[in-house]
Amino acid sequence: MSDASSDTPKLTRRPEWTALADHRAGGQPHLRELFTADPGRAERYVVRVGDLHIDYSKHQVTDETLALLQELAVATDVFGQRDAMFRGERINTTENRAVLHTALRTPRDAVIEVDGENVVPAVHAVLDKMSGFADRVRSGEWTGHTGKRIKNIVNIGIGGSDLGPAMAFEALRPFTARDLTVRFVSNVDGADLHEALRDLDPAETLFIVASKTFTTIETITNATSARTWLLDALGDDKAVAKHFVALSTNAEKVTAFGIDVDNMFEFWDWVGGRYSFDSAIGLSLMIAIGPERFREMLDGFHTVDEHFRTAPAEENAPLLLGLLGIWYNNFFDAQSHAVLPYSHYLSKFTAYLQQLDMESNGKSVQKDGTPVEWQTGPVVWGTPGTNGQHAYYQLIHQGTKLIPADFIGFARPVDELSDELKAQHDLLMANFFAQTQALAFGKTEEEVRQEGVAEAQVAHRTFRGNHPTTTILAPELTPSVLGQLVALYEHKVFVQGAVWNIDSFDQWGVELGKVLAKRIEPALTEGADVPGLDPSTTALVAAYRSLKEV
Ligand code: F6P
Repeated sequence: MSDASSDTPKLTRRPEWTALADHRAGGQPHLRELFTADPGRAERYVVRVGDLHIDYSKHQVTDETLALLQELAVATDVFGQRDAMFRGERINTTENRAVLHTALRTPRDAVIEVDGENVVPAVHAVLDKMSGFADRVRSGEWTGHTGKRIKNIVNIGIGGSDLGPAMAFEALRPFTARDLTVRFVSNVDGADLHEALRDLDPAETLFIVASKTFTTIETITNATSARTWLLDALGDDKAVAKHFVALSTNAEKVTAFGIDVDNMFEFWDWVGGRYSFDSAIGLSLMIAIGPERFREMLDGFHTVDEHFRTAPAEENAPLLLGLLGIWYNNFFDAQSHAVLPYSHYLSKFTAYLQQLDMESNGKSVQKDGTPVEWQTGPVVWGTPGTNGQHAYYQLIHQGTKLIPADFIGFARPVDELSDELKAQHDLLMANFFAQTQALAFGKTEEEVRQEGVAEAQVAHRTFRGNHPTTTILAPELTPSVLGQLVALYEHKVFVQGAVWNIDSFDQWGVELGKVLAKRIEPALTEGADVPGLDPSTTALVAAYRSLKEV
């Protein structure tokens, strides 16, 4: 059997796929039984990468399952596709672009070519320029137009130009210069910019306009309003040069906006937006944590890149996590994947991963444009523990859905906490371990009865268990560890896209809404007729206009 357009067998007709389907149909023992039969899996199903200790023993898999998954990876040439990415081939075929975020974190002496040109020197030239600028802002050498020291940094961007730096700033708060106020504005809802600016002094505020394309309507609209706010206060167009810098691939548009290209930090079309916060897009973060810490973070990314590039399949963490996700997504019909960090500082981590994963793998055609006939990317969701425990964990434990989950925790709290607050860390982590234990092993009816629970309540108080989780433990949430975690997920997403035979690096699905919004806007502001608007939207627009006028 073959695709219409190639000799490659359809994924679901590959013998490696049907072998997995048969294996699944044969039924999997409960995790309780798996551990009873093979307690050694607790030691065996662990991979270590850099500072990450990754335990996948609480998955509904045996050695046989893992071997079958690995065969699928071989059949779909995941490693061949990986090598093409690292080599700088144009694997983003629908945009005809290389995919080289890994080049952003290579050492100075590395050689990575795109169209015969080594891109590494340019990467380091921008990093050096960012470092010089960050140092000048941090030391107070770079002042505002009136000579006042910059105390506030406002990053204006959306999607990958917001989520990455915003997440990383939050994650690394203890490493940030606490005398700087750093805020992130993304939403075109004017309330976002209003709240960010209302207590700031324009003379002390630096705007970082982050946009790969420099055409994104939300960002350009917010940046324009920010410029008005600044100029209303400072009354001199020349102030823009001291209060606005741009992070972009588009020098022409940056200049057209009125920002000097000297104040532009460049990156390249081979850096996808959702893979960009280790490029110039990370400038706000670099100012906050300092160039040295930023480079530690890049080294963390690089550690996992090298692991992904060179580790054998059985020990390759992104490969394993990607394949485990495929096991549930495609053979158990799991619709979602929860990421549950037990760290307050990772409060934006899952939101960041939503773009990384869902914009990458939310696709329904293969690379050649033919429809996929299998499930692709899961819905990614989650919030930090222990908050989630008191909200939606009920559904994970006792609901009807299978929700594979990643638990991310740290052995040490951050240094800055008082001794009393540090002591709370063991309680946090006791919850962390308790949850994965409860999810895996549950509580049987017999165990509930033995506790003397009334018969009418036994079913309600039973936990079936057998919920799969990965546990990711690291010593501490440092810049390097954050880089390692992000690279782990980047490559996991890559693996899944490679198996599903989709282009994980385009995002055409965001375009239609943008075009329609542009068309509808005049109807809202000027009451203009929108030709071809459907009856439902026409009625809603009319309702909006009459409500607006009240
Ligand atoms: O609309 C989606 C998207 O293109 C993302 O992929 C991207 O991260 C975001 O918009 C922002 O784009 P830009 O950095 O070009 O403003």
